[in-house]
Amino acid sequence: MFGKKDISVGLDIGTDAVKMVQLLKKKNEVELISFGSATFPPEAIADGVIVDPNSIVEAIRKVIAESNTKIKQVKVGLSGRSVIVKKIKMPLMSEEELRDSIHWEAEQHIPFSIDEVVLDFQIISDEKNEKLKQMGVLLVAAKKDKIKSYMDILSQLSLEPVLVDLDSFAIANSFEASSEIKDDEVLCLLNLGGELTNLNIMKKTSPYFVREISVGGNHFTRAIQKEFNVDFNKAEEMKINIMKSGLQIFSKKAAYIDEGMQFIRGAGELEGSRTDFKEAEKKEEIPVGKSEEERMKMVIGSVMEQLVNEVRRSFDYFHGMGEEKEIKKIILSGGTSRMIGLVDYFSDIFKISVEVANPFANIKIDETKFDIVKLRELSPVMGVSIGLALR
Ligand SMILES: Nc1ncnc2c1ncn2[C@@H]1O[C@H](COP(=O)(O)OP(=O)(O)OP(=O)(O)O)[C@@H](O)[C@H]1O
Ligand SMILES: [Mg+2]
Repeated sequence: MFGKKDISVGLDIGTDAVKMVQLLKKKNEVELISFGSATFPPEAIADGVIVDPNSIVEAIRKVIAESNTKIKQVKVGLSGRSVIVKKIKMPLMSEEELRDSIHWEAEQHIPFSIDEVVLDFQIISDEKNEKLKQMGVLLVAAKKDKIKSYMDILSQLSLEPVLVDLDSFAIANSFEASSEIKDDEVLCLLNLGGELTNLNIMKKTSPYFVREISVGGNHFTRAIQKEFNVDFNKAEEMKINIMKSGLQIFSKKAAYIDEGMQFIRGAGELEGSRTDFKEAEKKEEIPVGKSEEERMKMVIGSVMEQLVNEVRRSFDYFHGMGEEKEIKKIILSGGTSRMIGLVDYFSDIFKISVEVANPFANIKIDETKFDIVKLRELSPVMGVSIGLALR
């Protein structure tokens, strides 16, 4: 048998669902012990703030029971409005020195009061410049009240957080562990969740440019809800069914080419900033007399347009930072990456290769113990929790 200390639990509390994975870390391999996911009512988290902690507690209780988890120490992920990631330049120094001085430095870079936040950082190894005696640092600031609301939930379940990490970094970690990355390749990870999309441009296997886009799967659902005057769950069902029906739901026309867009290059305003989702002015956009399928196409298309534009804007920004290297590939994860036809659509739109992540790839799985169909289906959704558990 293995000791409890060798088991690592990753817990991803999303805005749509809770995901949990238990991994056994052995010397030369990692083995899957359990995994699970449970949704909670969409009202439980409003605008990134937990308003109904009990339903999240219940969802976590469900995954714990399902996976028979006895471990109390968990590694949790954070993302959303109360978390800021910003790339800054600092004089060359050791990690210890940086830890001592980051507090002072952070003050000028984050929009919150320094007393309200917990700070962390990551040195970008690729951006050490001996000549200029400078290095690039990803500064992370998370609001204390956000962390507290998570901690309250965990303490109700007698769970002990042993590590808190950003969803974006966890995704990068699971991606690194599950794929063969060429050292000089630039890739873009897109974790398409419920309320938001974590965008992560990876250079030399480490996160280089991190951003959150305020468009996720729930925006499609809410747009359908509004157009067809149905409740959220019905709209969710309609969203999944229309794609299963085989209808070509994405059309190139839906993504408008963003040539007229004003874009300030190199101003640093994109990191940590978000563009708020704009709801379509539905009545004038969708003519009467259209079939349900056509209306679905238009509704989904208008949300997709915003997502595509934000990704494009991020790519432009990345190149505006003086980057010559082309982004080689987009790797999708998160629940919304399960949208049928999305891979082809994105590769068409962005003209690069697009794949769906398989964070289980290098993890040993006893096929007699798990429902493999479910595992494959959930795989892209488990990226954050796997990345956390691998820490
Ligand atoms: N088969 C599917 N087809 C299309 N969309 C799906 C499918 N399964 C799940 N989704 C969508 O995925 C979204 C949830 O994804 P995920 O679990 O990654 O989000 P989350 O981590 O809870 O949220 P966030 O990261 O935004 O906080 C929902 O909008 C849901 O509708
Ligand atoms: Mg998520």
